[in-house]
Amino acid sequence: MATPQILITGGAGYIGSHMVKTLLDAGFDVVTVDNLSGGFRDAVTGGEFVHGDISDVQFINDVLTQRRVSAVIHFASFIEVGESVTDPSKYYCNNLTNTLLLLDTMRSCGVNNFIFSSSAAVYGEPETVPIPEFHRKLPLSPYGRSKWMVEQILSDMNRAYDFKSVSLRYFNAAGAHPSGLLGERHEPETHLIPLVLRVASGAAPDVKVFGNDYDTPDGTCIRDYVHVVDLCQAHLLALESLLGGGDSAAFNLGNGNGFSVQEVIATAERVTGRTIPVIAAPRRAGDPARLVADSSLVRACLAWQPRYDRLDTIIEHAWSWAQKFHSAC
Ligand code: UFG
Repeated sequence: MATPQILITGGAGYIGSHMVKTLLDAGFDVVTVDNLSGGFRDAVTGGEFVHGDISDVQFINDVLTQRRVSAVIHFASFIEVGESVTDPSKYYCNNLTNTLLLLDTMRSCGVNNFIFSSSAAVYGEPETVPIPEFHRKLPLSPYGRSKWMVEQILSDMNRAYDFKSVSLRYFNAAGAHPSGLLGERHEPETHLIPLVLRVASGAAPDVKVFGNDYDTPDGTCIRDYVHVVDLCQAHLLALESLLGGGDSAAFNLGNGNGFSVQEVIATAERVTGRTIPVIAAPRRAGDPARLVADSSLVRACLAWQPRYDRLDTIIEHAWSWAQKFHSAC
């Protein structure tokens, strides 16, 4: 049998570029589509790269029909929760409308396997922690709503067309490839760990802590940081399940361990051996106090077993990459 070919949208981005490498290492044939609005061409370490936009139906149609694509893994989306509140149209046009165009083009080309980057943001303020998949969905931002709307569309398409999908609800993707080849690069950067490591490397003077009066032991927000390579491993398992005729599903992806902002900073100080000055800042809009995954479902259904579940390891890998990156800048 020919090697299955997998289309990765957003394969030049942070998680997408790690996914390209994971699939190539697993022996898949990969084609990356990216418009390079947030990604970097040099982050795509192999396979075929095609520059283009998922909103271009003819272009996606050509990519799918000129190859023998068996499944699509869809990372191409905007990711800033705060920006989605101030510019919701940008998020609904890309994360919702363009995803729907992609899904319809896939269907018309007979490609019926889809893996979707969803988010813990679909839950909103949790009623129970750790959060199980069946928790009510009350997203706090247009970003979270766009992800939840796509998940609902996927359920309807599964029922109506037998279109198969796995939605993976990421908690806090973090870390970098252990080889040091790939890492987290966003412009602008808004995520805690890369910002903390910027300070450790001397590229920024201090890090702001958004709120120290939350209902948590040290007053700062608690998150479930999950290694990007473990996230990609879950996508690989989901892909193998769909290609083997498995059912549609939605899974949380997190380690089930919560760390506060202060704990992240203390761990980064230990790992890097550098002092990280902090500045207390007001709460950031839309930040729930505590987001921790109940990931028992994906462990049971896909036999997912995170390999790098220690925060120290996640930060060590991120630090190896950040040192190289900041010294090259
Ligand atoms: N934080 C700071 N200072 C900073 C940056 C972040 O204190 O400079 C805090 C945030 O307030 C939050 C925690 O660090 O409490 C983590 O923030 P990140 O921005 O790193 O990550 P988020 O939890 O906001 O976002 C992640 C994903 C989103 C997803 C969201 C779900 O990156 O894509 O979880 O709520 F939508």
